[in-house]
Amino acid sequence: MSSQPAVPLVLQVNGLRRNVTVEPDMPLLWVLREELGLTGAKYGCGIARCGACTVLVNGVARRSCVTPVDSVATKAKPMHVTTIEGLKGKDGGLHPVQEAWLAENVPQCGYCQAGQVLAAVALLCANPKPEKEDVDLAMAGNPAAAEPTRASERRSPRW
Ligand code: FES
Repeated sequence: MSSQPAVPLVLQVNGLRRNVTVEPDMPLLWVLREELGLTGAKYGCGIARCGACTVLVNGVARRSCVTPVDSVATKAKPMHVTTIEGLKGKDGGLHPVQEAWLAENVPQCGYCQAGQVLAAVALLCANPKPEKEDVDLAMAGNPAAAEPTRASERRSPRW
């Protein structure tokens, strides 16, 4: 429980400017889920280990369960937060990683899937031709990612 009073903050989420009034140290995950109704990012461990809560912050994978909301919400220039709900391909449809995910039949129970997809997107944005070691490293924080890792090792031409 935060001891800080709620303050008005401005977020940039999935391309939209969003105003919230929350405790500044509230985890971004709770703001996304409880204040903005974006429930794609999931709560798993709460300590930055499982990756279920992964979102993109300015294109970099970030564990939203341990990211204070005020670290991404500045009045002058809020960082760009992308959740799975905002991930799109160039034509507005599925992102190529999502298409590959389906084509390679990666989904299991689906709970951690949003975090896994966004971790893969962040990797491929930073390194479009990753080696196996790069994939292992980028997906290592997603323990349930054994199958996605094996799928990504097949290096789908869709990526
Ligand atoms: S819930 Fe954030 S890493 Fe597990």
